[in-house]
Amino acid sequence: MSIKIIGTGSALPEKSVANEDLEKLVDTSDQWIRERTGIGSRHISTGETVTQLSAAACEKALADAGRNAEEVELLLVATCSPETGIPCVACQVQAAVGAVHAVAFDLNAACSGFLFALHTAWAYMEAGICRNALIVGAEVLSKLVDWTDRSTCILFGDGAGAVFAEYRGEPDIFRFVQHADGSKGGALRCDSRQLKNPYTEAALEAPWVQMDGRDIFAFAVRRVPESIGEVLEKAGITADEVDLFVLHQANYRIIEGIAKRLGQDMEKFPVNLDRVGNMSSAAIPVLLDELNRSSRIRRGMKIVLSGFGAGLTWGACVMQW
Ligand code: COA
Repeated sequence: MSIKIIGTGSALPEKSVANEDLEKLVDTSDQWIRERTGIGSRHISTGETVTQLSAAACEKALADAGRNAEEVELLLVATCSPETGIPCVACQVQAAVGAVHAVAFDLNAACSGFLFALHTAWAYMEAGICRNALIVGAEVLSKLVDWTDRSTCILFGDGAGAVFAEYRGEPDIFRFVQHADGSKGGALRCDSRQLKNPYTEAALEAPWVQMDGRDIFAFAVRRVPESIGEVLEKAGITADEVDLFVLHQANYRIIEGIAKRLGQDMEKFPVNLDRVGNMSSAAIPVLLDELNRSSRIRRGMKIVLSGFGAGLTWGACVMQW
């Protein structure tokens, strides 16, 4: 059985930071960043929080779906950059938008977060626990990034995207696959608060995002096409039948590598990372919102979503829009 996304919304911080602006902070150049990543600019919070961006995206998704907040039964926020450990972002968003009847909780699967939250929402609906869900991917990664490290600070951006989905009883091609490999977690990590209590030595300062870019690159180009192949086989369709591949927006060269391995034209791989950078769990829902609002996604189209990132985690989903 399937779920249908009937509304999308997104919100980005007001400030856009161009590659040229970063040239003033670290030893880099617009040319290097564009050639290696495809990124030209990204939005960076000057105060907007994960909760505020999420709430704004949710309100737009509800308006697009023609539903009101009181109808929402499940509210999931995928994020790895919440402002608060407790309460979770989802509960704060629930209060902000007035989704008073929703069960609300967060989920962290880094850049695969939105996809994993979508799968969780599907499982809740399939189990009969709820009939609809607001699913959010939201990050303010700029507070976790070391702004003196040129190999990471140029990559990431802040933002939030949300979808409103409803359960449909009819069987269709909706299928998904999810994977995780914790043994490779060191390739992309960001430590949280350090242990500090009366019985320990003074804690070290928590480090920022650390990444082995080459490892992540190789992992993505190998694992993403594999998982897309897996999910297409489950759905009983071929890559040629897919209208759009909406992939996690990390690096243009990664997307090109995946398209090549799947034998598909880049035309089928929409890209917005040139304007927004890598927004982790927000990347897929923000891109979906842009595609929906510009009518590039239309009802009946066969869409593949695929996310990958820290954990390591990765997965894919195929659906009929
Ligand atoms: N500007 C200029 N030079 C830079 C730079 C920057 N912003 N960042 C790194 N460099 C330098 C390196 O120091 C290195 O210099 P050296 O050869 O003198 O040591 C050189 O550029 C090449 O570095 P390398 O890491 O080999 O570059 P790369 O081609 O692998 O590109 C990434 C680096 C990060 C762009 C690329 O590996 C990548 O995108 N990986 C995936 C990262 C990702 O998507 N992470 C999130 C996953 S969800």
